[in-house]
Amino acid sequence: MASVPVASEIEVLDLRNFSARQLRPLLEREAGVWRERLRWDYRSSTELLLQYLESRILTGFVALDRGRVCGYTFCVYEGIKAVIGDAFATGHKTMSDADATRALLAPMLELLGHTPGVDRVESQLLLYGAGEFTDLFAGPEFTVYPRLFLECNVGGQRDLLPAAAEAADLSGVGPELALALWTPEDYQAAAELIHACYVGHTDALINDQYRSLHGSLRFLHNIVRFPGCGIFEPGFSWMLRERRSGALVGMVLCSRVGANVAHITQLCIAQAYRGRGLGRGLLERSAKSLLGAGFEAITLTVTEDNVQAVRLYERFGFTLRHRFDAMVLDTQFKRQ
Ligand SMILES: CC(C)(COP(=O)(O)OP(=O)(O)OC[C@H]1O[C@@H](n2cnc3c(N)ncnc32)[C@H](O)[C@@H]1OP(=O)(O)O)[C@@H](O)C(=O)NCCC(=O)NCCS
Repeated sequence: MASVPVASEIEVLDLRNFSARQLRPLLEREAGVWRERLRWDYRSSTELLLQYLESRILTGFVALDRGRVCGYTFCVYEGIKAVIGDAFATGHKTMSDADATRALLAPMLELLGHTPGVDRVESQLLLYGAGEFTDLFAGPEFTVYPRLFLECNVGGQRDLLPAAAEAADLSGVGPELALALWTPEDYQAAAELIHACYVGHTDALINDQYRSLHGSLRFLHNIVRFPGCGIFEPGFSWMLRERRSGALVGMVLCSRVGANVAHITQLCIAQAYRGRGLGRGLLERSAKSLLGAGFEAITLTVTEDNVQAVRLYERFGFTLRHRFDAMVLDTQFKRQ
């Protein structure tokens, strides 16, 4: 096997040289870190990833410490874009976890920067703190966006929610709107609303799927069908429509990321309907039904400069659990 020399203590090899069995212990340790740090049960994502690893189709690297697997990174390609899906290292004898991860990210960025047809690289490494890899993602071709991982203990809102029942039922917004649970018939309208809501939004700079209807549909399919963002919960995901026209004007989508922890994967309100309490109302509706079903906490991620959303979440009772970075590499910029 040809290896990339990085530092005397660490050896970095092509991911495709390794079987799922060899990588499983590392991925199981990583799942433990997700649970501890973000209250996130990562096991279904782990199993899905192991299937891909077993087929040896993923581009990536593995870090070895004296022959023992101590880290990995992989990416997936979506057209002209590559997404670094994960980078994680732990248990190296002499290097810190962050340094061992850095030793994996450096060759990955080098490789993607020189891969013909790849003009864009996106990555959000939730297990690492904001600023951890700014040395690697420095330079005019990179942009780094701090993001927040927030949590709200709905158990602690037990008193608040019955008092807010009216708002939670959204009855205060007028008779022109109707609330209904998500159904698979909502795919197209939901993707159209997501696309419209993120025009000119920072999140569309972080994730280019928001910039097209096709990309927004893909984003939605990822949330609803695959376990990367938790297991989708249609019973707690609400659609808000104009009663007369049937037009979708808002939505909250929710997944289960732990036995009693939910994750809001999407909240958006059509431009014309903002500032009327609908965003808060949808959150309350979701929180109320989650509380009734025994959930104890809700988590979500939000871009730090999305001031309106951050303020809404903080007023609702969300607090900061973790601050991390979204990183974007625009290789077209490099060639200009
Ligand atoms: C973030 C978002 C969902 C908020 O939706 P919204 O319906 O406008 O939110 P709300 O109306 O509940 O709250 C927003 C503001 O309106 C105010 N408001 C609430 N009810 C009101 C009413 N009846 N009259 C006037 N203002 C009201 C709130 O106090 C809040 O003001 P503040 O920001 O000064 O605290 C919406 O801006 C959006 O879709 N943004 C784009 C997508 C996005 O960023 N989603 C979040 C990703 S994490």
